[in-house]
Amino acid sequence: MKVVPFALAAVAASTFASVAVADDADVGEKAYTQFCATCHGVSGAGDGPMTQMMTTGVPDLTGLTDRNDGAFPMLQVIHIIDGRSGMRAHGGPMPIYGALFDAEFEDSNTYGSVLYTRGKVLSLAYYLESIQN
Ligand code: HEC
Repeated sequence: MKVVPFALAAVAASTFASVAVADDADVGEKAYTQFCATCHGVSGAGDGPMTQMMTTGVPDLTGLTDRNDGAFPMLQVIHIIDGRSGMRAHGGPMPIYGALFDAEFEDSNTYGSVLYTRGKVLSLAYYLESIQN
C-alpha cells in the first residue's frame, strides 16, 4: 500500500512537466508567428509573403535536422536567432532578435531583460525543434 502515494506523485509530476512543456511550445509558436512567419512561412517552409520582396532565398526551417545529419542543431539555432554570438556573419537579411527582444522589454539592459530575451529565444528554438520533418 505504501507504493500508491509514490505512484500518484510520479503521475502528478509527469503531468505538471508536460503542462510546462506545452506552455513553452505555445510561447514559441506565438513568437514565431509574430516575428518569423513573414519570411520563413507559417509552416516554416521558407515561403512567407516577405520572400517576394527579397533578393536572397529564405531557408526552410523544417529541414534543419535533416540538413544537420539528423540532429537538431539547437545551439546554432539559438545563436542565429539571438544574433549576438558572432558565430555567423549575420549582418545579412535576417533581423537580430536578441537586440529586438531586449528593446521590447520595458527595462532594457537589466537582468530582467536578459532573462526575458533568453527565454524568448529558447522558446523559439524549442518550437523550431518541434516542427522538424
Ligand atoms: C526578413 C526576413 C526574415 C525574418 C523576419 C526571419 N528570418 Fe530567419 N532567415 C532569413 C534569411 C534570409 C536567412 C538565411 C540567411 C541568413 O542566415 O541571414 C535566415 C536564416 C535563419 C536560420 C538558419 C537556417 C539555416 O538553414 O541555417 C534560422 C534558424 C532562422 N533564420 C530562424 C528565424 C527565426 C526563429 C525568426 C524569427 C524570430 C526568423 N528567422 C526571422 C530571413 C528572415
